[in-house]
Amino acid sequence: MLDINKIRKEFPMLDNKTMQDHPLVYFDNAATSLKPSCVIEAMNDYYYNFNSNVHRGDYDLAAKADKTYESTREIVAKFINCSNNEVVFTSGTTQSLNLVAFGYALNNLKENDEIILNEAEHASNILPWYEIANKLKLKIVFAPLNSLGEVDISSLEKLINEKTKIISIAYVSNVLGSTNDIKTITKIAHNHNIVVVVDAAQAVPHKKVDVKDLDCDFLAFSGHKLCGPTGIGVLYGKYDLLCKTSSMQLGGGMNAKFDSCQNMLLKKPPYKFEGGTPAIAEVIGLAQAINYLNNIGMDDIESYEKELKHYAINKLKELDNIEIYNENNDSGIIAFNIKNVFCQDAGSYFNSQGIAVRSGHHCAKLLPNFLNVIGTVRASLYFYNTKEEIDRFVEVCKHGGDFLDAFFK
Ligand code: ALA
Repeated sequence: MLDINKIRKEFPMLDNKTMQDHPLVYFDNAATSLKPSCVIEAMNDYYYNFNSNVHRGDYDLAAKADKTYESTREIVAKFINCSNNEVVFTSGTTQSLNLVAFGYALNNLKENDEIILNEAEHASNILPWYEIANKLKLKIVFAPLNSLGEVDISSLEKLINEKTKIISIAYVSNVLGSTNDIKTITKIAHNHNIVVVVDAAQAVPHKKVDVKDLDCDFLAFSGHKLCGPTGIGVLYGKYDLLCKTSSMQLGGGMNAKFDSCQNMLLKKPPYKFEGGTPAIAEVIGLAQAINYLNNIGMDDIESYEKELKHYAINKLKELDNIEIYNENNDSGIIAFNIKNVFCQDAGSYFNSQGIAVRSGHHCAKLLPNFLNVIGTVRASLYFYNTKEEIDRFVEVCKHGGDFLDAFFK
């Protein structure tokens, strides 16, 4: 059971009024989450009290920065159940997925190999694969979606052949909140020696994710969607696969030695991927964010968000001017439109009432084909949201049909 009043006090942004002088209702958590004070303070503490580089200095401040930075790797490893040396710090999910495409696939796939994607994927899990496909002359295959927007497992199985080398798939869709059955998919894939790459940007912040249990080969997520800072993310990779992955960033900190005959010896994973000065404050903030979520409890977060989502759906279903596209999905994402109102106009209307939502195609530009709409409004919930905020949101939805009137009042 969450202590929601206590939790809300820990997020300074929730005290703010919007520019229109409404209390902020922040329903854009799938884009980025708000940050609790402990994350902001931990980053400030680094800058105020032990600012120094990591992996380089022989003085006390640097040792403290080193220790704090590396302890985050352990915190992340425990959080997703892997070994410390399987945690690569990146700038976010996008960089993590690009690292798999350009570092692993480019070096391990060959002409005519096939990669399976699906139309619900975010651009970050499509465009790097297109680029690799163009470079290596690979084939991209799209797995069909079922009515919930999940990858249909039996159709996926039929697409697999001896040329299939990678399945790259979101755990939870950023538009529909549909959850793919990763465990079953990895089981099927591994029977055919296929590598499974998971975009878990919308999953890790909201539920317990155990990479050993999923048995996925790579998994990517971002810090900023789980109460951490922007500019920091994680790539988990099974160690043997990380060894087969090339570094995309060469420089200081990631090499063991090099000479003037162009010989170089790189460090072992994960360090060989972390060339240059890393995002030290952000890594420290990420540790605080994970500790913060762990203290609340991932299972409680997941069940509270489900409760909020069901509450919202039931209320919205009472309105006849709202079209909902994902009422049966369990995550805290609500994809909808106000009937006869263009989604981005609806977004402006919500803004005028102090409610932050996202509108459009949400970077998943193939999905509108599946939904047969130009775009959607997305209200995405997190554990600090409340039923009172949903009541306010539903009240605002009621008047959405008179959008222009409402907007210019
Ligand atoms: N991927 C983020 C979203 O879905 C930015 O909004």
